[in-house]
Amino acid sequence: MVQKKKIIIGNWKMYFNVHEASLYLHKLSKLVKIHHDVEVVLAPTILTLQSISLQVKYRQFKLAAQNFYWRDEGPYTGEVSATQLRGVVQYALVGHSERRHFFNESDKEIRNKVEAAVRNNIRPVLCIGETLWERTSGETYDVLHNQLIGGLANITSSDLCKVVIAYEPVGSIGTGHTAPPNDVAAAVRAIRSQIEHLYGSEAAKSISVLYGGSITLESAADYLVVPGIDGLLVGGASLDAIMFSQIVQKAHKGKISSNEV
Ligand code: PGA
Repeated sequence: MVQKKKIIIGNWKMYFNVHEASLYLHKLSKLVKIHHDVEVVLAPTILTLQSISLQVKYRQFKLAAQNFYWRDEGPYTGEVSATQLRGVVQYALVGHSERRHFFNESDKEIRNKVEAAVRNNIRPVLCIGETLWERTSGETYDVLHNQLIGGLANITSSDLCKVVIAYEPVGSIGTGHTAPPNDVAAAVRAIRSQIEHLYGSEAAKSISVLYGGSITLESAADYLVVPGIDGLLVGGASLDAIMFSQIVQKAHKGKISSNEV
């Protein structure tokens, strides 16, 4: 099987104005080397995407939207569509827990967004994960199951290769409490087995699954070696150019050492 690229996404959330984003990118471009085995993706705010897209070298970085509306165009004040983002971004986050929880995004909207991204040639990064309460009540696998079924309902087998899954336990996002790597490994096994059930074993092996939630420079390597993890979705730590570039470097080095054994 072709070796999958590691994917490292920096989610800037609602940080950086246009000027700060530009300075950050200038700094990051000097720090991050182009590696054929690591795809580095930046997710700025919708406001800064346009200016960043003019400054970025797409060989070095890909861009992601943090959010978009699923219809292609129309009278939807305040919204931006995947059609309008086409050509500017290569990826888009969909169903991030902050969208599910603060903006009440439903599975129906999420599946429409996943479909809209694919329709517009953008790779959706479908974010799923249980809350702390769901984990302690033993509902983790049911939640993952439902979010996968809900999010992928409009995706055919031939389009699944465009989708990336990000597993982010909600209790780990922005809290400094990373999930134990063993729990992450078990969750990723459950995700792949659900994909196998829906789309077959080849699809289950080839889909990229990322981990996200309070990743730091210190913890990045622990998650990059979790079996079945193909990369990281980094929030807070991605706002520090030096730290983020070193996380990228770890993804590259991890690949070298696992190829050597
Ligand atoms: P965090 O965010 O790394 O700050 O926890 C991760 C995310 O929201 O995707």
